[in-house]
Amino acid sequence: MIMPRAAGAAPAARFFPPPMTSSATPFIEPGRVWPDDRGRPIQAHGGAVIRHGDAWWWFGEDRSRDNPADCRCVACYRSTDLVNWTFRGQVLRLTDPENFGEEWILERPKVFPCAATGKCVMYFHLDGRLPGNASRYSLARVGVAVADQLDGDYRYARSFRPLGQESRDLGQFIDDDGQAYLIFESRPTKGFFITRLSADRLDVAEQVAFIAAPIEGGAIVRHDGLYYCIGSHLSGWWPNANKYLTAPRLEGPWSEPVDFAPPESATYGSQSTNLLKITGTKQTTVIYLGDRWNPYDLSDRRYVWHPLEIGGGRLQLKPRGWLPGPWRPDVQTGEVTYA
Ligand code: GAL
Repeated sequence: MIMPRAAGAAPAARFFPPPMTSSATPFIEPGRVWPDDRGRPIQAHGGAVIRHGDAWWWFGEDRSRDNPADCRCVACYRSTDLVNWTFRGQVLRLTDPENFGEEWILERPKVFPCAATGKCVMYFHLDGRLPGNASRYSLARVGVAVADQLDGDYRYARSFRPLGQESRDLGQFIDDDGQAYLIFESRPTKGFFITRLSADRLDVAEQVAFIAAPIEGGAIVRHDGLYYCIGSHLSGWWPNANKYLTAPRLEGPWSEPVDFAPPESATYGSQSTNLLKITGTKQTTVIYLGDRWNPYDLSDRRYVWHPLEIGGGRLQLKPRGWLPGPWRPDVQTGEVTYA
């Protein structure tokens, strides 16, 4: 979906900090290179973090420069504090699985462990050029890969169009009751779908809602009995003013999309990918997980993670200063400390 910048999408250049590397730090530093336990920048873009066992697991696109040219990679990291991440490997290293052509694309991987089967199911946006089509994003499918344990190795299973619809950006939601949902953006229908996964999590079982808003990078969290959904406008790698909507039930009715950050900040130069809830002993904290893409160098991309103000149907990304600065969560209590 390489598209011209959407009308109204704010130029966000001033929110891009100069390239710099940060040394090991006890804080999450939005927009900075984030080193893993090897000192290498974390490569987990368009991803999501899930809680499993006694740890947090982060899966995302690995666009390292030294990846083989014909290989699309998904990396996995593990953490017990959400600040320090241990690289667990490239859990998927896939070459063109179905003769889609050398331009084929793998984006936005999401992993769903399944307690009933003991398998872990990875979904990703699988794309490429349909013969004769001008767009490199015309296949518009979902890919599925399965592993016996969270950190791999994932084996390619198949691809399909969920509900028979074109599907691009994928989002993940696991509700408090353990039900798993896949969110996908569908260009021809000008909106996005929330679908329930089957009990074995290997398939899309049914449509839960269709939201008639052209929004991608969709993510959902449930907080105090209300569902909050975030997503971005369709402006390719360029950031825009991301929106949120609320609903009392996943089925809806969903409210109209509104801003959750100053629109001129273009969501502080980032695009939504996931919402992470920490239910601590003292408070519940919901964290916005965004990607700061570098359209000129896709291997050099950053993350904008920041706690949200949430409650009573309101969602706000409000940094303490002009820009989201260093902070860290206490995963036991749910409290947040700002540097
Ligand atoms: C964005 C999308 C990304 C990627 C990009 C390509 O809109 O969120 O995942 O597909 O377009 O231009």
